[in-house]
This record gives sequence, C-alpha cells and structure tokens, in this order.
Amino acid sequence: MTKKTLYTDALSHPIFEYISNASADLALETYVIGGFVRDYFLKRNNQQDIDIVAVGSGIELAQAVAKLLPNKPKVQVFKTYGTAMLRYKDVEVEFVGARKESYNENSRNPVVEDGTLEDDQNRRDFTINALALSLNKADFGNLLDPFNGLKDLEAKIIRTPLSPELTYSDDPLRMMRAIRFATQLNFTIEKKSFEAIAKNAERLDIITRERIVEELNKIMSSPVPSVGFILLHKAQLLNRFLPELTNLEGVEDVEGQKHKDNFYHTLEVLDNISKNTENLWLRWAALLHDIGKAPTKKFHKTLGWTFHGHEYVGSKMVYKLFKRLKMPMNEKMKFVQKMVLLSSRPIVLATEVTDSAVRRLVFDAGDDIESLMTLCEADITTKNPLKFRKYHQNFELVRQKIKEVEERDHVRNFQPPISGELIMETFNLKPCREIGVLKEAIKEAILEGEIANDYQEAYDFMLKKGEKLGMKVIGN
Ligand code: CTP
Repeated sequence: MTKKTLYTDALSHPIFEYISNASADLALETYVIGGFVRDYFLKRNNQQDIDIVAVGSGIELAQAVAKLLPNKPKVQVFKTYGTAMLRYKDVEVEFVGARKESYNENSRNPVVEDGTLEDDQNRRDFTINALALSLNKADFGNLLDPFNGLKDLEAKIIRTPLSPELTYSDDPLRMMRAIRFATQLNFTIEKKSFEAIAKNAERLDIITRERIVEELNKIMSSPVPSVGFILLHKAQLLNRFLPELTNLEGVEDVEGQKHKDNFYHTLEVLDNISKNTENLWLRWAALLHDIGKAPTKKFHKTLGWTFHGHEYVGSKMVYKLFKRLKMPMNEKMKFVQKMVLLSSRPIVLATEVTDSAVRRLVFDAGDDIESLMTLCEADITTKNPLKFRKYHQNFELVRQKIKEVEERDHVRNFQPPISGELIMETFNLKPCREIGVLKEAIKEAILEGEIANDYQEAYDFMLKKGEKLGMKVIGN
C-alpha cells in the first residue's frame, strides 16, 4: 500500500489544532474546505479566510473552539444559515455543518438538510473548491478529493463536481464565479461548463446586483481583466448588467469610412491601465471612458464618424450605471465621472501643448491629474508603431509641461486670490451677479496667463476690469 500524503504543513496555523481538539471532544468529523485549501495548493498568499465543515453542528463546534482559544473570541451565529464565525489572530473562521442542498427555482436560498462530507463536497461550485483536508486525529492533513480537484488545479481547469447544468442552475452566481476564477487564476472553463453558463445566462437575473458587482470587481482587479469581459460577453452575461458597454461593439462602414470597435478598444485600454494601476476606480474609469460613444455616434458627410460630447454624455451615464448596479454613490463615483468627462482633454493637448491649455487642465483635474494622464496613456491603442511612439512622446511633453506650469503658477486646487467680499468692499456693492462675473474674469485671466496667480496682479486686474464694468471704487 502506498503511504498517504498528509498535508500537515498547510495546517501549521495554531487555529487548526484548537479546531481538531474541539471536534475530538465533540466526537465530530471536521475538515477545512474551499478557498483555503485551493489557495494552499496554488501557493497563493490568500489564507486569511478559513472555511470549516463539520459533520454535525457547525455552530456547536465554533462555540467549543472559542472556549479553548486563549482570547475567548465572540462567536457570531447566523441561525438561518446554520453557520458561525469567529476571529483568531489574523484569521476569520467560518463553521458550517455538512449539508445536502437543493435550490428553489426562483431564488438562491437553498433548502438545507444535514449530510455527509461527500454530500457537502457535491454541492460545491467547482472541483478546485471542493478539496478538503482532514482535521481529525486519525488522519490529520489527509486530502479528500473525490472529484480530482488537484488534477484540475494542475491542468488549470474550472469544472463543476456535478453536472454543470445543475450546479449553475442551483446557484447562478456561480456563472460569474467561474469566469472570475478563470480570470484571476488564468484557468480555462471546461467546454461543457461554459456551454451551460451560456445556456443559463438569463438565470443571472435572480442574483442581487451587489453580488454581481462583487464578482465583477474581482475580475476588474485581475492582472488581465479583458479575459473575464470577453468570457462574460461570449456567454451573453455582460449585456444583462452592462449594456452600455456591449452597445459599443461593432464597426460601421459608411461610404468606405469606418470607426474603430469601441468595445474591444475599451478592453484594451482596461488591460493597458491595469499594468500601471491597482486602483479599482481608475480601472472603472477606463472601462467606462467611451460609453458615451454609442448614444452620440453620427456619420457626417465631410467629417466622417463623430461622437460629439461623448465625454459629457458618458459622465452622466456613469451616474445612472452606478445607481442601477447599486455601486457606491460617493466620491468614487464622482471620480469616475470626472475621469470620463476629462478623458479627451490631454489627447487634444498632445498635438499642441500651450501653457494656457495645460493650466486649464491642471485646474480642472486638480489632484486627479496623475490618474487622468495614466488613463490617457492607456487610451493609446494604435497598432502603428510610429504613431504609438509619437503619442507617448507627446504625453511625456504634456507631463513635463504640467510640472513646469504647476511649479510656476500653482493652479492645482486653485483658490482665487480675490474673494467676493473684497470685490464688494472695494466697489461698495451688495451681493449681485456682477461679483460673480468679475470673479470669473479674474480666474480666466489667470488661467489664460494674462496675469500671474498672485494677489497684487489680481487686485490691479480687478480694479481695471471693475471700472470697465461700470463699478466705482469707494473714495474715488
Ligand atoms: N461556494 C459555492 N458556491 C458559491 C459560493 C461559494 O459552492 N456560490 C463554496 C466553494 O466551495 C467556495 C467556498 O464555498 O470555495 C467559500 O466561498 P467564498 O469564500 O465565497 O470563496 P472562496 O472559494 O473562498 O474564494 P475567494 O476567497 O477568492 O472569494
């Protein structure tokens, strides 16, 4: 008989010994299962979440473990789900009793019955997530892998333990999860499985927006996010929650004039930016930077294809999209809107870099100027190497100019040197429209470079401009 491999090194965290002792006291079979085991074999540094399955009551086990632990942690019990959670040192441990599950047609909420470890492994999403390591005294560290999950890990395959039809129809969120794992881990989804996803695509509608976005954000945060978007699109899932994006697909040809396919262009931009930033919201900005192009597209006899005002229209669409997907309606959404709105500005600059245009850009982008430049550089997807080099060189020039203008003129987070109160005092005015006009004129003069961003120059300008507007200085 060959000797069994015991993966005790996976279980070196002290929590496992406590769990093993508590389950021996309760005479329960206990296993660690799911993402923790998968990530151990993948050597991924992602082992803070531990899922424990007990053949018996997961809640009782959690309480027994908590009693043994030196810090006596609080056990959070979720009665409806029959689960319990506790924290110890750097880990969060979730306990559940082994289950047999069947799902209701119209919801994700399963009808649950007690079951064996094997029943529990059967009901899991993927073979690579059904791997379990024993915490029992007799075979501590023994791997239970009834579906050859380890082989699938090596072959980089996403496969369901039971028939894919059943697994996805039981819980349609798993369709998103399959694509998310394929993207995160660079795995392939088994053909049969992918076909079942495409077939069940409309079942995604029973999943809450929050859960969909959670998976989507994991796809967005992957090294090459386009992998996931292309799979989502092929499976007809993407149009169910991001039609703004799929509407960008296609190339139209009128009188021999074509525009680029803005869907695939967008995915290239997203991949490009992902090499340069981990910032999820900047990646979202890349994903949405051209969404205004579908509703603004027009063919013009002499100009060809135009997308006038797509940045403005796109930034308005960002608001609706975030709201619909129940995404944060806070400064993150505003940041994405701002990036979309300003996304063409540096490109215009790249052909002619004037001081005043750079000053205006720095003024409008404020502290987000770096992010905006990163977005615009990612937007260069031309396949012509000469143009590619030229555009990048121009952006280098813009960056250089930004630095110079910033050092000299301090227009980032610009505060006008002349306040409304000073204008009122100087010209003995009550609050009125003209004060705003004058303030705007001072700002414009600074941004245009007519005067420096300096109190005295702005004051003199105010006097001259005020007089022109028919205002009288007190005492004159
Ligand atoms: N699971 C499942 N079906 C789902 C969600 C989860 O079968 N829709 C099972 C899988 O066995 C999974 C485990 O529950 O491994 C834990 O789920 P979760 O913590 O959401 O994911 P992980 O696999 O741990 O992966 P990650 O931490 O990357 O999200």
